[in-house]
Amino acid sequence: MVLGIVSEEIYKKKIDTLIIPVMEDDEIYTDALIKGLIGNAHKTGDFKKKYKETLTLYQSEDIEAKRIIFLGLGKKDKINLDKCRDAIGSVIRKCIKLKVSSANIVVPQKTKTAKTVSVPNMMEGAFLANYLFDKYKEKKKFTLLKNINFVVAKDEVIQLKKLINEVQTKCEGTFIARDWVSTPANDLTVSHFSKQISDLASKENIKCTILDEKYLKKNGFNALLAVGKGSAEKPKLVIMEYKPSKATKKIALVGKAVMFDSGGLSLKPGSSMEDMKVDMAGGAAVASTIITAARLKLDAHIVAAIPMVENMPSGTATKPGDIVKCYNGKTVEILNTDAEGRLIMADTLAYMVEKYNPQTIVDVATLTGACMVALGEHIAGVFSNNEEKLDALMDSSKSTDERCWKMPLPDDYNKLLKSSIADLRNISTTRYGGSITAALFLQNFVSQSDWIHIDIAGPAHISKPTSYCPAGGTGFGVRLLVDFLMR
Ligand code: BES
Ligand code: ZN
Ligand code: ZN
Repeated sequence: MVLGIVSEEIYKKKIDTLIIPVMEDDEIYTDALIKGLIGNAHKTGDFKKKYKETLTLYQSEDIEAKRIIFLGLGKKDKINLDKCRDAIGSVIRKCIKLKVSSANIVVPQKTKTAKTVSVPNMMEGAFLANYLFDKYKEKKKFTLLKNINFVVAKDEVIQLKKLINEVQTKCEGTFIARDWVSTPANDLTVSHFSKQISDLASKENIKCTILDEKYLKKNGFNALLAVGKGSAEKPKLVIMEYKPSKATKKIALVGKAVMFDSGGLSLKPGSSMEDMKVDMAGGAAVASTIITAARLKLDAHIVAAIPMVENMPSGTATKPGDIVKCYNGKTVEILNTDAEGRLIMADTLAYMVEKYNPQTIVDVATLTGACMVALGEHIAGVFSNNEEKLDALMDSSKSTDERCWKMPLPDDYNKLLKSSIADLRNISTTRYGGSITAALFLQNFVSQSDWIHIDIAGPAHISKPTSYCPAGGTGFGVRLLVDFLMR
């Protein structure tokens, strides 16, 4: 796919599909040709310019285009950043269905309102929407667009080319994560995932180390090992480091990668297990974020850690009641083997804090069904011991529309995690507030570091498509974290 910037010169040539966004209550173009085309659309009487409404015309005397799609943007005081992504995304998905190979999107010109129509967000919506996960289909029903061009004034071409590269890199990062999350657990095991990550890292300026079972055993990663014990696939801890010479800040990222979560001996019921290939989405987001950061040549020192396991029941599996000593010396009574994410994250967080002493540590995990119950399929729960840094993340959330909601870390709830014979129990004594007690559990392993925990159990994947993401893995977290790292 090529995302490009072209000048208005193309109106003189023969083109495939022209897309013209139109504001309901304002003129956003100065170009007489485009104004004329909109006038023609208006004359049909079928186009009210309502938000996401479209009209397709197949013939025009003024321009040699195969088709012209007019896209309503609705009223000027209602449009916002995400609606720009959403509207353009929906029209690109329409183009995929129409088997369009090349689309040219006219960018609103420098009139007063055009400023509220965000060009970077339009680009992002277009690029994110041009994605399919159909590698398991024998017959491919749809094809992606080969070209998406943005038509701008001649003097804006150079400036916008730089911007478009940045947008493209971020979106490609999101696609890597989407692909991983949608890939089933038989095709993405611990070995496959770690190999794919190290292959990608070797193409960038990223050092990648894979700590194997032997290393983990020797160095006391007993909680991580306990989760992997029931599976034939051995656990691994993947460490990625991007360290540009002029880096000023050091940030650690940790992502949960349970390649499949059966629940272990505390086996999940069949229907809850169906989606459990997505339990590595935190790891996918984190790996893809550091790769994207390297491609964008960000100036932060970033270390990412991805604990990888398969959580399976078997004769060698961890049994409810087992007690393990974690990397930081704390003991945990594992009363439910399905609360495994916090165990692998515990060792990894403690290791990262000890080894790298980062200014900020951010973890991303499909940690609790409770978070999904609380916030639904589209919103992540965020927890932090540092209000200022959490606010910065919330700013990234607003500008990327990867939605997050602040959740509390109430000190008194810690008593719900007290064990009578070990330091901690891995599940709360009540079934209420499950995402909070999971976050509090993790807090025991970050010492005094500034830490943000993002529970993405909801938005890691979606069951119904949105305008710029088909059903399946969403790649949630990549654009959010890249934006956070850029701040
Ligand atoms: N991987 C699940 C959480 C999850 C649920 C992710 C739904 C995505 C969608 C996690 O390991 C888990 O099983 N959590 C348990 C914790 C409980 C045993 C305390 C849960 O949420 O039920
Ligand atoms: Zn689980
Ligand atoms: Zn899990």
